[in-house]
Amino acid sequence: MKKKGVNSKQSLIRGIIIGVVIISILFIIVGELTNNFTLLFPAKDGNILSFYHWWTSAGERAALNSLILVFTNKYPDIVVLPSSLISNSSAGGGVELFNVLKPMLMSGESPDSFQMHAGYETKAYVDSNLLDNVDLAWQAEGLEKVVPKIVQVMCRFDEHYYSVPVDIHRTNVVWYNKPLLDKNNIDVSNLTNWDSFFNACDKLKSSGIKYPIQMATAWTAQHAFDQIVASQGIVFYEDWINGKVTAENDSRLLSSLETFKKYLSYVNPDNQDIDWNTATKRIIDGEGAFNIMGDWANGEFKAAGMEYNKDYGTFVVPGTKGMYGLVIDTFQLPKHPKHPASSEKWLEVVGSKEGQDAFNPLKGSISARTDTDVSKYDGYQQTAIFDFIIIKQMYPAVSNGAPKDFEVKEQQIIASFVKDLDVNKAAKAFTDYQKEISDEYTIEWDLK
Ligand code: GAL
Repeated sequence: MKKKGVNSKQSLIRGIIIGVVIISILFIIVGELTNNFTLLFPAKDGNILSFYHWWTSAGERAALNSLILVFTNKYPDIVVLPSSLISNSSAGGGVELFNVLKPMLMSGESPDSFQMHAGYETKAYVDSNLLDNVDLAWQAEGLEKVVPKIVQVMCRFDEHYYSVPVDIHRTNVVWYNKPLLDKNNIDVSNLTNWDSFFNACDKLKSSGIKYPIQMATAWTAQHAFDQIVASQGIVFYEDWINGKVTAENDSRLLSSLETFKKYLSYVNPDNQDIDWNTATKRIIDGEGAFNIMGDWANGEFKAAGMEYNKDYGTFVVPGTKGMYGLVIDTFQLPKHPKHPASSEKWLEVVGSKEGQDAFNPLKGSISARTDTDVSKYDGYQQTAIFDFIIIKQMYPAVSNGAPKDFEVKEQQIIASFVKDLDVNKAAKAFTDYQKEISDEYTIEWDLK
């Protein structure tokens, strides 16, 4: 008899469980049918933002975290999932990111946004129909009124914007360890041409600095070489970026390679094995004196607590006075992002004055908006902001201004030149390749 009481209790519990299951299934059906599911369980579109980037160095992470903070303060209910996909210390330059990201986009596994360079890098994805336009974000932030024309041109294809610029980086900058130069009585205002620069390197060498110039892996060698090309003048750089350097005996190309050969004689031999921020760190530590790098390097000096014009300084790459080399970082809207509403919110924060004035002071760059709060920027950045206003000769980096194939090929040619220093072989390789891919040059830059 005892058994009966136990049965009714068991059937009650079973009844409750079956009831809960039925109600849940009903909820799912209703949710899916009426699309109120996110309201009932706010997961899908409402509160996740995933994006990919390659900012993994100390300065880069600090800047990105500051931008994300602006976003989370505005949208505290959205969970932000940033990923750099690459686990090594520095995913610098983004070279590897796209090897992973492109297949994801093509298979419909799109993140909500990702970092990219303006210009050709974006165009390739527009042409492959992997991106949606970001006109909405440009309108929402009134970007056409505050973003400089040269940047607008690099973000716009076929009457639509496909990139929201987050920064303007300057490329033709030499970073130096100030106490080291002061100790050796080297006045950087004299280092306006390569001869005086190499004389300073000789002086440092004779005072015990084994490798006065610090350089890192292939894309940074390419970066340095492109500044040497620019030092030949804007006309030659325009031909270079437009794929018009096709004669292997072009004296401007041969002298650029000769200058680079001389430059490499002062460079650390382990350059191919280190990341960009390791080379910059050696300037911070006074192991080396000079590092040609985009002003993302400024972010590393700041992250190391260094003070501009006291612990470190800058001057423009010899021969590039009156020129401003550009790298523009942007964020994109892939086709079919998982959380389109979050994508839109992120792109607007990226383009906003608040977002840019939170990100760029730590990143080392200047804002892509002219209504920026200059007081938030350090001494170096204020000179860059001023130069950006007055300088006419602006030139996009190869990563922004030339076909991706050329960027990759240039790194390969430069990497073998760093090893064999064979000027004629490199000149032939460059000019043959520019001829070979001439039809890929679909943007004609007028830089003069
Ligand atoms: C560049 C990027 C910069 C900087 C650098 C090093 O390609 O545009 O923002 O971060 O790589 O990672």
